[in-house]
Order: sequence, then structure tokens, then C-alpha cells
Amino acid sequence: MSLPTHGLDRDTVLTTLAAYKKRDVPWQGGQTFAYIYDPGAEAMAVGKEAFASFLTENALDPTVYPSLMRLENEIIGMAASHLNLGEGGCGSFTSGGTESILLAVKAARDFARAKRPEITRPKMVLPVTAHAAFHKAARYFDIELHLVEVDPQTFRAVPALMEAALDERTILAVVSTPSYAHGVIDPVTEIAPLCHARDIPCHVDACVGGWMLPFWRRLQQAEGVPEADQIPAFDFSVPGVTSLSMDLHKYGFCPKGASVVLFRDQAMRAAATFACSNWTGYTIINPSVQSTKSGGPLAGAWSVMRFLGDDGYLTLTGRLREATQALIAGIGAVEGIEIMGQPDMCMFAFTSTELDVFHVADEMKARGWYIQPQLGYTGPDGVRYPANVHLSLNNRDTKVEPFLKDFREAVQAARGLPDVRPGEELHGMLAEVAGQPMEGELLEGLLAVVGVGVTDEGAELPERMAAVNRLLDALPPKMNEALLTGFLGELYRPAR
Ligand SMILES: Cc1ncc(COP(=O)(O)O)c(C=O)c1O
Repeated sequence: MSLPTHGLDRDTVLTTLAAYKKRDVPWQGGQTFAYIYDPGAEAMAVGKEAFASFLTENALDPTVYPSLMRLENEIIGMAASHLNLGEGGCGSFTSGGTESILLAVKAARDFARAKRPEITRPKMVLPVTAHAAFHKAARYFDIELHLVEVDPQTFRAVPALMEAALDERTILAVVSTPSYAHGVIDPVTEIAPLCHARDIPCHVDACVGGWMLPFWRRLQQAEGVPEADQIPAFDFSVPGVTSLSMDLHKYGFCPKGASVVLFRDQAMRAAATFACSNWTGYTIINPSVQSTKSGGPLAGAWSVMRFLGDDGYLTLTGRLREATQALIAGIGAVEGIEIMGQPDMCMFAFTSTELDVFHVADEMKARGWYIQPQLGYTGPDGVRYPANVHLSLNNRDTKVEPFLKDFREAVQAARGLPDVRPGEELHGMLAEVAGQPMEGELLEGLLAVVGVGVTDEGAELPERMAAVNRLLDALPPKMNEALLTGFLGELYRPAR
């Protein structure tokens, strides 16, 4: 594809863009239970307007745009007071959970380099439920991962197992509040002090939960929920928590590109900061990964937070909490379907030993709902976590009854569908090709088996994804990752 010889008119450009969206999963009516966080039309409009009005300003140099520095300081201030970050604490505004996590891990690695230079092979201890962003950080920063099994019933990190994994090479331990897959909170009050006693930093990944959980707890308190059943402490009030990531573009309901990483003290943040004056250009000092940084996400986040306010977030949380309780009860009551663990927030997963939950996801898609398949996983000690389907509630007007009606039908339909797990023949073929580069005919052949066509135009996904997901589910992670990487190469191609 080349540039149009003459610039197009505004209407042509914008209508073409709108047309490009046609095949996207629809979310405006609350049918998409992942990726989207919708606070309602009014708050969304405020966020958009604010975002657009600061789109061009650049936070690259805080002295040139004091407005952006002010917005960032006020956002971090609101986050700090929300999560009990005391005097001496600090934080940075980032583009998302992954960037916040990358910075926290880099800070821990460089902090250890300065403080514990005897560590030549740093390692990070995390439950298998911790987000893949920590794996990304480990690969980017060359840190060994020590994955720890979680309780196979509750899916929470087990303090004794985490403790056993901490050693003299550990530069960081990780807990999640909640973990994405099952929406359960790790016991921060037990694990962070164990780290503290060993002088090991402990990061709380509160990317999804950090903003909403304090509101959730207040609703529980108002309702008289016994203290033992309330959301437990997970923030800087817990001794030993040294850093925390919290996304504003998730349950802060802000426009995308908004997260914060908070540090208990300045020294740790300094280890995440990049300053460079060893070149011919302008002075560089970046608290985050980005250098040029649009003011849009800052203004969008600031505006939605100020617009919704404490009462707005409390109301939103209340609505999502009620809808979650109704959905969990309704889905759990369907024969053959099991809710996994006891979810702590408005996100959860279900599985089944009787039918293929990936067929259920396809059947729901055919009925206009997007729910998110998650592959099964075998932990480092052989614990098997079954394939499942995830839902994050994200719309103030969740349509519980229409969803449940379609869900019951989808489960019924899934029972009648064929088994799409790879048969012996495919398993044999996979064993033969294990370790070979996933490209060319091998890649095309494997994709074709599950209905993914590769043409000169790129890859075409089948309408129904159960067979693709079952193949991925059956592959060992390394092979799976190779297949996905090859597949991505087919998906992303220069448009001709
Ligand atoms: C617990 C948790 N941590 C980190 C992330 C990564 O966030 P992002 O997709 O904004 O990079 C997610 C995303 O869902 C998450 O759920």
C-alpha cells in the first residue's frame, strides 16, 4: 500500500476508518466480557474530550509542559491516597500494566545490582497465576523466573511455597490482587512480610484490582459482611510491599494508555529512571519506558477520575458487584459448569469436566457475546489447571438475564458438538516436529489442520475457534509460543 497521491478529504478518511471497525467485536451494549471498561456514555465522553485536548502536548520534558507534570502529580496523588502510600512514596504514570510491571522489575533488578552486587544471576519468584507481563520482563531484563504452584482449588498463592522459593538470588517476589485468570487475591498480608524479613522486595500486581477493591471493601463493610470475608489489605499498609502496579485504564475506567507504578521509596523509583546526557542531543530523563509521551492519556485519566469521583466509583462498583453475584450464581447453576475458586472481584472463570468450554465460547459468540478462552496449564510441579473461559464484567448495565438465557442454550448446544481435541495422529505429528522451527510448510500445515488459512493476503481465522484453542491447549508451552509467533508473522504483514 502506498500513500494516496493527493490527500483525501476528511469525510473519506473518517468513514473509511469507521468501516474498518465493522468486523470488530461489538462492545457498546456490554456484550464483550474482556478488553473493555465502560463507565457509561457521559464519563466516556469527558475522557475522550480531555484526551483529545491534550493529544499533542508532550510529557517528554516536564519543564516545558508544567500542565502535564501537574496532571501526573495529581493522578499519582489520588492513587497514593487510595492505596495508603505514605510519606517518601512516589510513582510514575505509564502507558499500561505491562509498562508498570516492566518498570517495577527493572527497578528491583537495578536496585539489587547496587545493593547486592554478589547476585550475578538474579531471579524473580512468582505464582503461576501472575500475569505474563512478568515473563516478558524476565526475558527483556534477563532475570530467571522461579514459578510457584498455587492452591489448585482456590488458585491463590500459597505462602509456604512462596517462602520456600525465596533465596539469596531473589531480587523480587510477586503477588496479584487479583490475578487476572480467576479473579482471586493472593494473601499479601502473609507473603509480603516473609519477603520483608529477608530484605527481598515484594511487588503487588494490582493492575486490575487496585482501583476497584477499596470500593468493593467499603460496600462489604456497609453491608455487614464479616471482616474475614472482606477484601483483605493488599496495599502499602502491608509491611513489606515495596512496589505496586495499578491500571487506570481497567477498573479506573479511564481511556486506554493509563496506569501507575508506585514505589514505597524514592530509591527504588530512581532505579527505574532513565537519564542520559552522553550523546549530542537534548537532555533525556524518563521515569517510564516512553520518551515522547502524549498528554492525551494523562488528561483522559485525570478527567475521568475527577468526573466520576468517590461516589461515582462506588456506584459503578456496586452495580458490577451485583451483576457479578448474579452471573456467578446463574452460570454456576448450569449443569456441567463449575466456577473456578471463589472470585474476589468482578472477574472469574468457569470450566467443565463434561463438555468443551471452548465450544461454549464459540456458541456464545454466535449469539453475540464475547467471553474469553483460557488454555489449560501444567505447573512446574505437575499440577494441571484446566482449560476454562474467563469473564471480566465491565459495563455498568450488564445484561445478566439475556446473557444467562443464551449461556444455558450455548451449553446445551456445546454438548452436541464433536470432540475437537487433537487426535492421536496429530499428537504423533506434533511429537515428530517438536523442536523444529515453526515456519513455512510446517506452520501452514499445523494452521490448516485447525482451519486457519494462510494466503498471500495473510491469515484468515475460522469463525469457530474451539479447534484452534484445543490445539494450543494440547501443545507444550514452548511449541505453543513458537506456533503463536509464526502465526503472528502471518497476521501482521505489510498491506500491499
Ligand atoms: C493482573 C494483570 N497484570 C498486568 C496486566 C497487563 O496490563 P496491560 O494489558 O495494560 O499491559 C493485566 C492485563 O490484563 C492484568 O490483568
